[in-house]
Amino acid sequence: MHILPIASGKGGVGKSLVAANLSIALAQAGKRVILADLDLGASNLHIILGIPLVRRGIGTFLSVGGSDFGDLVMATDYPGLRFIPGDAEIPGLANINQRQKASLIRRLLALDADYLVLDLGAGTSANILDFFLMSSHGIIVTTPSLTATLNAYLFLKNTVFRLMYSSFGRQSRAFQFLEALRKDGTSFQKIFIPAILEKISQIDPENHAKLSARMSSFRPKLVLNMLDDPKAADKAAKIRRSAGEYLNVELEHLGVIYRDSFQDVALGSRIPVIRYKPQSPISQAIYRIADKIVSNEDEEEMPLTDAYLDETFQAAEMEAEIDFEARVEYVEDLLQSGVLTMADLVETVRSQQFEIGQLRRENQLYKFKVTKAIQQGFKA
Ligand SMILES: Nc1ncnc2c1ncn2[C@@H]1O[C@H](COP(=O)(O)OP(=O)(O)O)[C@@H](O)[C@H]1O
Ligand SMILES: [Mg+2]
Repeated sequence: MHILPIASGKGGVGKSLVAANLSIALAQAGKRVILADLDLGASNLHIILGIPLVRRGIGTFLSVGGSDFGDLVMATDYPGLRFIPGDAEIPGLANINQRQKASLIRRLLALDADYLVLDLGAGTSANILDFFLMSSHGIIVTTPSLTATLNAYLFLKNTVFRLMYSSFGRQSRAFQFLEALRKDGTSFQKIFIPAILEKISQIDPENHAKLSARMSSFRPKLVLNMLDDPKAADKAAKIRRSAGEYLNVELEHLGVIYRDSFQDVALGSRIPVIRYKPQSPISQAIYRIADKIVSNEDEEEMPLTDAYLDETFQAAEMEAEIDFEARVEYVEDLLQSGVLTMADLVETVRSQQFEIGQLRRENQLYKFKVTKAIQQGFKA
C-alpha cells in the first residue's frame, strides 16, 4: 500500500482540497484508494466529498472505542474510493495519547488498498509529524505566500528533528546530545542541522549511519497551490534550496495548482471540483499530479538523483507557464459560452485586488518588524 500523507505548516493552503480530489483522480486511474480524514477536530473532508451526515469517525473510535475500525470505512460515490471520516469527537490530533496514536497507526497500516491518502491537520505537533512519517513520500502543500512557504520549511525542519529522535535509542550518545541541545532551549531551533549531523557522526557513528539511511530514503514532495502568477512558481525552488542546504532534505516537485474561482462554486455545491469541472485548470492540475504519482509508484525505492529532482522542478515551472496560458484561454471560452459573465469577472478582479491590498499590508508589517529587529540588534 502506498501511503500519501498530506501536510502543511499552515492551515488553509489546500491540503483537504488536494487530498479529496487527488484521491478521486487516483481512483479514476483504477487504483483502490482509501482517504482518511486525520484533521481531527477540524474535519471537513466529508463536506468536500459531499457526504451529508457522518455518524462515526476516527474521533469517536478513539474516544469511545470498542468497535471495529473496519466499520468506519465507508463507500463513496466514486468507484474505487473509500472514505474514513474524522468527526469532531476529539478536539484535535495533538490531543491523542501515545497509545491511541500507536493503535490508530497500526489499524491504518492494516487496511487493504493501493493508496492510503491521509489528510492531516496544520501544524507541527508530534502526532502530525508521526502520521506524516508513516511514509517517506509525504506531500507538503504550500501556497507561494511568505508565511506559507516559511511554514512549509519549518514543517520539514520539525520532521527532521522527529526523524532524529525516533532513530536514536534513549540511552544513545546521539539522543543525549539532542536532549542537551534541547535543554539549552535557545539554540535548539536555531542550530544548523548539517552541523548537528556532523557532530553526531563524530560522537555516535552507528546511530549516524542509521539516521543517514532513513534520511536518504526520506523524499517529501511539494505541491504549490493557489498560484496566481507564474513568476511565483520560483517559491518552490526557494523551499527546495533551503531544505537542501539547511536540513539535508531533498525535495521533489509534484506540481503547481493555480487559484481557481470554480473551487468556491464547487465547494458551495458540495461537489469535488474534479467532478464538477474536470476540464478546468485546477482539475487538470490535479490529474497531472495523480499521473506523476502513479507513473512513479514503482520507483519509490530507487535512489534519487539530483538530475531527477532538477527535472521535477523544471517540469513544474514549465507547467506553471503553460497553465497560465491555458487559464486565460479557459476564461475566454467561458465568457464566450456565457457560463461566466463579465460581471463575474469584474467581481473576481475586485476580490483579487482586495487580496493584493492585504498582502501589501502584510508585507509592510514584515518590513517594519525586520527594520525594528535590525535596529535593536545594533543597540545590543
Ligand atoms: N487552487 C485553489 N483555488 C481556489 N480555492 C482554493 C484552492 N485551493 C484551496 N482553495 C480553497 O481554500 C480554502 C482552504 O482549502 P483547504 O483545502 O480546506 O485547506 P487546508 O485543508 O489546508 O486547511 C478552501 O475554501 C478551498 O476551497
Ligand atoms: Mg483541511
